[in-house]
Amino acid sequence: MSTSELLRELCPTISVGVLTADLSNFGSEVALLEQTDVRLLHFDVMDGCFTPTMTLGPPLIQSVSSSLLKDVHLMIQDPLEKVDAYVAAGADIVTVHVESCTHIHRVLQHLGQLSNANDESRGLVRGIALNPGTPFATLEPLMDDVDMIMLLAINPGWGGQGFIAATFHRIEQVRRRVEESGRDIVLCVDGGIKRDNVADVVRAGAQLVVTGSAVFDGKNPAENARLMLDAVKGAA
Ligand code: DX5
Ligand code: ZN
Repeated sequence: MSTSELLRELCPTISVGVLTADLSNFGSEVALLEQTDVRLLHFDVMDGCFTPTMTLGPPLIQSVSSSLLKDVHLMIQDPLEKVDAYVAAGADIVTVHVESCTHIHRVLQHLGQLSNANDESRGLVRGIALNPGTPFATLEPLMDDVDMIMLLAINPGWGGQGFIAATFHRIEQVRRRVEESGRDIVLCVDGGIKRDNVADVVRAGAQLVVTGSAVFDGKNPAENARLMLDAVKGAA
Protein backbone atom coordinates (compact mmCIF):
# COMPACT_ATOMS: atom_id res chain seq x y z
CA MET A 1 0.00 0.00 0.00
CA SER A 2 1.34 3.46 -0.88
CA THR A 3 1.78 6.11 1.81
CA SER A 4 -1.03 8.11 0.15
CA GLU A 5 -3.39 5.14 0.33
CA LEU A 6 -2.40 4.52 3.94
CA LEU A 7 -3.11 8.15 4.82
CA ARG A 8 -6.53 8.01 3.18
CA GLU A 9 -7.32 4.82 5.06
CA LEU A 10 -6.38 6.44 8.38
CA CYS A 11 -8.54 9.53 7.79
CA PRO A 12 -10.32 11.09 9.52
CA THR A 13 -7.51 11.28 12.03
CA ILE A 14 -5.07 13.57 13.80
CA SER A 15 -1.42 14.39 13.25
CA VAL A 16 0.21 15.38 16.51
CA GLY A 17 2.44 18.47 16.35
CA VAL A 18 5.59 18.28 18.43
CA LEU A 19 6.37 22.01 18.72
CA THR A 20 5.31 22.17 22.36
CA ALA A 21 6.56 18.69 23.31
CA ASP A 22 9.31 18.37 25.89
CA LEU A 23 12.24 18.01 23.49
CA SER A 24 14.63 17.13 26.33
CA ASN A 25 12.45 14.07 26.82
CA PHE A 26 11.34 13.61 23.24
CA GLY A 27 11.79 9.83 22.95
CA SER A 28 9.49 9.25 25.94
CA GLU A 29 6.92 11.73 24.65
CA VAL A 30 6.76 9.88 21.33
CA ALA A 31 6.63 6.50 23.10
CA LEU A 32 3.51 7.68 24.97
CA LEU A 33 1.79 8.50 21.70
CA GLU A 34 2.72 5.11 20.29
CA GLN A 35 0.52 3.53 22.97
CA THR A 36 -2.50 5.27 21.45
CA ASP A 37 -4.15 5.00 18.03
CA VAL A 38 -2.24 8.08 16.85
CA ARG A 39 -0.39 7.22 13.64
CA LEU A 40 1.07 10.55 12.52
CA LEU A 41 3.64 12.88 14.05
CA HIS A 42 3.70 16.45 12.72
CA PHE A 43 7.07 18.23 12.58
CA ASP A 44 6.90 22.03 12.16
CA VAL A 45 10.07 23.13 10.39
CA MET A 46 10.66 26.90 10.49
CA ASP A 47 13.70 28.70 9.14
CA GLY A 48 13.54 32.20 10.61
CA CYS A 49 13.00 33.61 7.07
CA PHE A 50 9.61 32.40 5.92
CA THR A 51 8.58 32.43 9.57
CA PRO A 52 9.71 34.77 12.35
CA THR A 53 11.08 31.88 14.41
CA MET A 54 13.33 28.86 13.86
CA THR A 55 12.61 25.33 15.00
CA LEU A 56 13.94 21.93 14.10
CA GLY A 57 15.69 20.40 11.10
CA PRO A 58 16.48 17.00 9.57
CA PRO A 59 18.62 15.68 12.50
CA LEU A 60 15.70 15.78 14.96
CA ILE A 61 13.35 14.15 12.45
CA GLN A 62 15.94 11.44 11.76
CA SER A 63 16.52 10.88 15.49
CA VAL A 64 12.93 9.73 16.01
CA SER A 65 12.80 5.98 15.71
CA SER A 66 9.12 5.22 15.60
CA SER A 67 6.37 3.39 13.80
CA LEU A 68 4.48 6.70 13.46
CA LEU A 69 4.38 8.32 10.04
CA LYS A 70 6.51 11.44 9.87
CA ASP A 71 4.44 14.38 8.64
CA VAL A 72 6.90 17.17 7.83
CA HIS A 73 5.48 20.69 7.44
CA LEU A 74 8.13 22.84 5.80
CA MET A 75 7.73 26.54 6.58
CA ILE A 76 11.00 27.44 4.88
CA GLN A 77 11.92 29.80 2.06
CA ASP A 78 12.66 28.20 -1.32
CA PRO A 79 12.51 24.55 -0.26
CA LEU A 80 13.54 23.08 -3.66
CA GLU A 81 17.14 22.37 -2.71
CA LYS A 82 16.30 21.50 0.88
CA VAL A 83 13.59 18.86 0.58
CA ASP A 84 16.03 16.00 -0.12
CA ALA A 85 17.49 16.28 3.39
CA TYR A 86 14.03 15.96 4.97
CA VAL A 87 13.16 12.97 2.81
CA ALA A 88 16.50 11.36 3.69
CA ALA A 89 15.68 11.99 7.36
CA GLY A 90 12.57 9.82 7.00
CA ALA A 91 9.70 12.14 6.04
CA ASP A 92 6.61 10.23 4.86
CA ILE A 93 4.60 13.37 4.16
CA VAL A 94 6.32 16.51 2.88
CA THR A 95 4.26 19.69 2.79
CA VAL A 96 5.55 22.92 1.27
CA HIS A 97 3.95 26.35 1.32
CA VAL A 98 2.78 27.79 -1.97
CA GLU A 99 3.93 31.21 -0.70
CA SER A 100 7.50 30.02 -0.05
CA CYS A 101 8.31 28.54 -3.46
CA THR A 102 9.60 30.49 -6.46
CA HIS A 103 8.63 27.55 -8.69
CA ILE A 104 6.06 25.50 -6.85
CA HIS A 105 5.48 23.03 -9.70
CA ARG A 106 9.16 22.24 -9.84
CA VAL A 107 9.20 21.46 -6.11
CA LEU A 108 6.18 19.15 -6.39
CA GLN A 109 7.59 17.40 -9.46
CA HIS A 110 10.93 16.96 -7.72
CA LEU A 111 9.21 15.46 -4.67
CA GLY A 112 7.38 13.10 -7.00
CA GLN A 113 10.72 11.64 -8.10
CA LEU A 114 12.07 10.97 -4.61
CA SER A 115 11.78 7.63 -2.81
CA ASN A 116 10.55 7.20 0.72
CA ALA A 117 13.66 6.53 2.83
CA ASN A 118 11.64 4.34 5.24
CA ASP A 119 10.35 2.03 2.53
CA GLU A 120 11.03 2.82 -1.10
CA SER A 121 8.03 0.79 -2.28
CA ARG A 122 5.44 3.12 -0.75
CA GLY A 123 6.39 6.60 -1.94
CA LEU A 124 5.81 10.00 -0.36
CA VAL A 125 2.72 12.07 0.25
CA ARG A 126 3.12 15.48 -1.37
CA GLY A 127 1.34 18.27 0.45
CA ILE A 128 0.77 21.90 -0.36
CA ALA A 129 0.03 24.41 2.40
CA LEU A 130 -1.80 27.74 2.20
CA ASN A 131 -1.55 30.56 4.71
CA PRO A 132 -4.85 32.01 5.93
CA GLY A 133 -4.53 35.02 3.60
CA THR A 134 -3.77 33.09 0.41
CA PRO A 135 -6.67 32.69 -2.05
CA PHE A 136 -7.42 29.01 -2.59
CA ALA A 137 -7.70 29.52 -6.37
CA THR A 138 -3.90 29.24 -6.31
CA LEU A 139 -4.42 25.48 -5.87
CA GLU A 140 -6.10 25.02 -9.26
CA PRO A 141 -2.99 24.47 -11.42
CA LEU A 142 -1.42 22.23 -8.76
CA MET A 143 -4.20 19.69 -8.24
CA ASP A 144 -2.56 17.02 -10.45
CA ASP A 145 0.63 17.12 -8.40
CA VAL A 146 -0.61 17.00 -4.81
CA ASP A 147 -1.90 14.27 -2.50
CA MET A 148 -2.77 16.59 0.37
CA ILE A 149 -3.89 20.20 0.80
CA MET A 150 -3.18 21.83 4.15
CA LEU A 151 -5.10 24.94 5.13
CA LEU A 152 -3.44 26.96 7.88
CA ALA A 153 -5.91 28.31 10.41
CA ILE A 154 -3.26 30.53 11.99
CA ASN A 155 -0.35 32.56 10.64
CA PRO A 156 2.64 30.19 10.85
CA GLY A 157 5.23 30.85 13.50
CA TRP A 158 4.08 29.54 16.85
CA GLY A 159 1.98 26.85 18.45
CA GLY A 160 -0.89 27.78 20.74
CA GLN A 161 -2.44 30.54 18.61
CA GLY A 162 -6.19 31.09 18.19
CA PHE A 163 -8.06 29.53 15.25
CA ILE A 164 -9.02 32.12 12.60
CA ALA A 165 -12.79 31.71 12.19
CA ALA A 166 -12.79 32.51 8.44
CA THR A 167 -11.01 29.17 7.97
CA PHE A 168 -14.31 27.31 8.32
CA HIS A 169 -15.57 28.76 5.05
CA ARG A 170 -12.25 28.03 3.35
CA ILE A 171 -12.39 24.39 4.47
CA GLU A 172 -15.89 24.01 3.00
CA GLN A 173 -14.88 25.64 -0.28
CA VAL A 174 -11.72 23.61 -0.75
CA ARG A 175 -13.42 20.34 0.21
CA ARG A 176 -16.15 21.04 -2.34
CA ARG A 177 -13.57 21.86 -5.00
CA VAL A 178 -11.62 18.65 -4.32
CA GLU A 179 -14.81 16.59 -4.53
CA GLU A 180 -15.76 18.25 -7.83
CA SER A 181 -12.32 17.44 -9.20
CA GLY A 182 -12.80 13.73 -8.46
CA ARG A 183 -9.27 13.52 -7.11
CA ASP A 184 -8.25 11.66 -3.95
CA ILE A 185 -6.69 14.65 -2.23
CA VAL A 186 -6.69 14.67 1.58
CA LEU A 187 -7.76 17.94 3.19
CA CYS A 188 -5.73 18.82 6.27
CA VAL A 189 -6.21 21.78 8.63
CA ASP A 190 -3.43 23.04 10.90
CA GLY A 191 -3.35 25.51 13.78
CA GLY A 192 -5.45 26.49 16.76
CA ILE A 193 -7.44 23.24 16.91
CA LYS A 194 -8.43 22.10 20.36
CA ARG A 195 -11.12 20.04 22.03
CA ASP A 196 -13.67 22.84 21.83
CA ASN A 197 -13.49 23.36 18.05
CA VAL A 198 -12.16 20.09 16.60
CA ALA A 199 -15.63 18.66 15.87
CA ASP A 200 -16.60 21.81 13.94
CA VAL A 201 -13.38 21.63 11.91
CA VAL A 202 -14.13 18.03 10.92
CA ARG A 203 -17.78 18.78 10.13
CA ALA A 204 -16.63 21.61 7.85
CA GLY A 205 -14.64 19.05 5.84
CA ALA A 206 -11.20 18.48 7.38
CA GLN A 207 -10.00 14.89 7.07
CA LEU A 208 -6.64 15.29 8.79
CA VAL A 209 -6.41 17.55 11.84
CA VAL A 210 -3.07 18.82 13.11
CA THR A 211 -3.08 19.34 16.83
CA GLY A 212 -0.11 20.50 18.87
CA SER A 213 -0.65 22.37 22.11
CA ALA A 214 -3.95 20.59 22.81
CA VAL A 215 -1.92 17.37 23.11
CA PHE A 216 1.44 18.58 24.46
CA ASP A 217 0.16 20.84 27.23
CA GLY A 218 2.67 19.74 29.85
CA LYS A 219 0.20 17.28 31.38
CA ASN A 220 -0.95 14.01 29.83
CA PRO A 221 -0.19 13.84 26.07
CA ALA A 222 -1.49 10.29 25.58
CA GLU A 223 -4.82 11.06 27.23
CA ASN A 224 -5.10 14.36 25.34
CA ALA A 225 -4.35 12.62 22.05
CA ARG A 226 -7.00 9.97 22.72
CA LEU A 227 -9.60 12.64 23.44
CA MET A 228 -8.73 14.57 20.27
CA LEU A 229 -8.79 11.40 18.17
CA ASP A 230 -12.15 10.34 19.63
CA ALA A 231 -13.56 13.80 18.91
CA VAL A 232 -12.40 13.59 15.27
CA LYS A 233 -13.81 10.07 14.75
CA GLY A 234 -17.04 11.05 16.51
CA ALA A 235 -17.59 14.12 14.32
CA ALA A 236 -16.91 12.43 10.98
C1 DX5 B 1 2.37 26.64 13.33
C2 DX5 B 1 2.29 25.19 12.98
C3 DX5 B 1 1.16 24.41 13.57
C4 DX5 B 1 0.83 24.66 14.98
C5 DX5 B 1 0.07 23.53 15.65
O1 DX5 B 1 3.17 27.39 12.51
O2 DX5 B 1 2.27 24.95 11.60
O3 DX5 B 1 1.43 23.04 13.33
O4 DX5 B 1 1.94 24.95 15.74
O5 DX5 B 1 0.02 23.78 16.99
P1 DX5 B 1 -1.31 24.26 17.74
O6 DX5 B 1 -2.25 23.10 17.68
O7 DX5 B 1 -0.82 24.58 19.10
O8 DX5 B 1 -1.84 25.47 17.02
ZN1 ZN C 1 2.24 22.65 11.14
